[in-house]
Amino acid sequence: MCGIIGIVNISEDVSEKLFKGLKLLEYRGYDSAGMAVINNGNLQIIKDKGKIDEIHEKYDFLTLSGRIGIAHTRWATHGAPDKVNAHPHIDCTGSIAVVHNGIIENFMDLKTELAEQGHKFRSRTDTEVVAHLIEENLKRGMDVEDAFVNAIRRLKGAYALAVISTASPDKIFCARVESPLVLGIREGEVYCSSDIPSLLLFTNKIAPLDNGEYAIISPNNVEIRRISDGSRVRKQFKKIDMGVEEAKKEGYPHYMLKEIFEQPYSIRYALNVQKNYLELMADFIDRSSRLFLVAAGTSYHAGLVGSYIFSKLARITGMPVIASEFVSRYGDSITVDDSILAISQSGETRDVLWAVEQAKMRGATILAIVNVLASTLTRVARIYLHQQSGPEIGVAATKTYTGQLTILYQLAFSLARKRGKLGQDEMDRFIEELNMLPDVIDMILKKCDREILEVANEIKDAKYVIFLGRGVNTGTAYEGRLKLMEISYIPSLAYPAGENKHGPISLIEKDVPVIGLVQDDETKKLMISNLHEVRSRGAKTYVISSSDDEEVREVSDVLIKVPRVSALFTPITYVVPLQLLAYHTSVLRGLDPDKPRNLAKSVTVI
Ligand code: M6R
Repeated sequence: MCGIIGIVNISEDVSEKLFKGLKLLEYRGYDSAGMAVINNGNLQIIKDKGKIDEIHEKYDFLTLSGRIGIAHTRWATHGAPDKVNAHPHIDCTGSIAVVHNGIIENFMDLKTELAEQGHKFRSRTDTEVVAHLIEENLKRGMDVEDAFVNAIRRLKGAYALAVISTASPDKIFCARVESPLVLGIREGEVYCSSDIPSLLLFTNKIAPLDNGEYAIISPNNVEIRRISDGSRVRKQFKKIDMGVEEAKKEGYPHYMLKEIFEQPYSIRYALNVQKNYLELMADFIDRSSRLFLVAAGTSYHAGLVGSYIFSKLARITGMPVIASEFVSRYGDSITVDDSILAISQSGETRDVLWAVEQAKMRGATILAIVNVLASTLTRVARIYLHQQSGPEIGVAATKTYTGQLTILYQLAFSLARKRGKLGQDEMDRFIEELNMLPDVIDMILKKCDREILEVANEIKDAKYVIFLGRGVNTGTAYEGRLKLMEISYIPSLAYPAGENKHGPISLIEKDVPVIGLVQDDETKKLMISNLHEVRSRGAKTYVISSSDDEEVREVSDVLIKVPRVSALFTPITYVVPLQLLAYHTSVLRGLDPDKPRNLAKSVTVI
């Protein structure tokens, strides 16, 4: 997965803008980057492995001068992250440059064919075939547009592409199949990019390219057509009311910390979900015979918590399924009576889209909770709910997780009401409490940050860390584990605490940190006994709880007390100290929590 951007201007150099836009796309991948411009009929390229700033420091992107250019930040799929495999890729003659986000599945066949025709490949990427295909078409006498369209019609897989050619030096040719691509316009300048925020630096007039469309953009013109038949598409550019500042760090040392501290706001936004769509979604779920909550990573943990909440509040069985497993596990048995609730911050996670596509083909109803508007998932879903968490730049999901949970609670209430499973008084009390959560999170952030920093200091050199939860907080334990592991690289385990004696307890030895989550519900006594089990074998227990009674204190070497809310809502209140723990541990270990190695924000490959 990668970020691409292209700019064409009537009279000014574009390299500085490309550089700025590229920096905003860095969350999509950062193992290599590059830029190509056309200057006086020649293609000039800077590219290398490393982060954008490192490459800039070495070569200075701004030395590239030209009114048209494309740029790329990469997260490697085919070919190691090195200079040769960095984008842009060029044809044999060095006059066509291509940047690409996605995967071209049939690239090996195309490469073999092109190599037989005499084309010389420099990289091991799937992308390079596009440059050579266009070159071949030009050789056969096509103009650049025909050569481009003919080439992309031969591609199988997913792509957002931007191409420049010295044979047509004032046009960018771009196309989208699956991978996202948006266009932007202003007087004398036109843009394409993988996302909207990277364009907000320059314009707020935006139009997303839809799946299966290509565009030819020049300084004062945008022409959009369908790849399949070349038919013209008319599209309105809409004004986007979102500032670039939203996407900046606002004084925090890292985006992740900023985003953790934004949660009182992001939860409040999520509480403002459009009620008519919420009700409609609840209607669909209520009518379906089975409900699957399909997601990956952190979003899967939200689905897992959601399944407990749906059962407790609305007496609905929702099966949480890891998206990449969905097709082999349930693909063949899906029917028109089923509903899939796909949960995805980005709305672009390939595993999720794959599961959804398969389920849709079998007639299931596709519902979604997303954060990124105009993402692919919003287009395939019958109804989607926008969680409105704002852009999340840190690779580790934080505010978008609590945003997803906030939507799931509201959905559960709506279902409970429809199904008559909750009395009005109880419902009113719960809803009031849900509405108070932003303030509660604010209190937790103020109270816990220093305490958690101390815990982080204690665990930062641990060989491994164990997270225990039960009931609604099983998902919270998994999420705490994922956060710590992905940004601090400390191997960690999480499991429902009842599993302790079925194996993992053998890992407990002196001073192993065990993070235990204790909520005041039917699981409390059992959880306390699990903590006794590990403590008596030498573990050091760090307990997060809204209770500080004798029983809880007895099993806690360190007790992180958070304000009391109903046990049902503790997945939101307990995850915040866990996010802070992961953050501080990562920083204390000298790592960059915003950019964990080998990971990217949105995983658009299977
Ligand atoms: O965009 P999505 O919610 O579909 O992303 C799914 C996972 O890749 C994501 O939640 C990932 O696990 C987190 N970034 C980890 O913090």
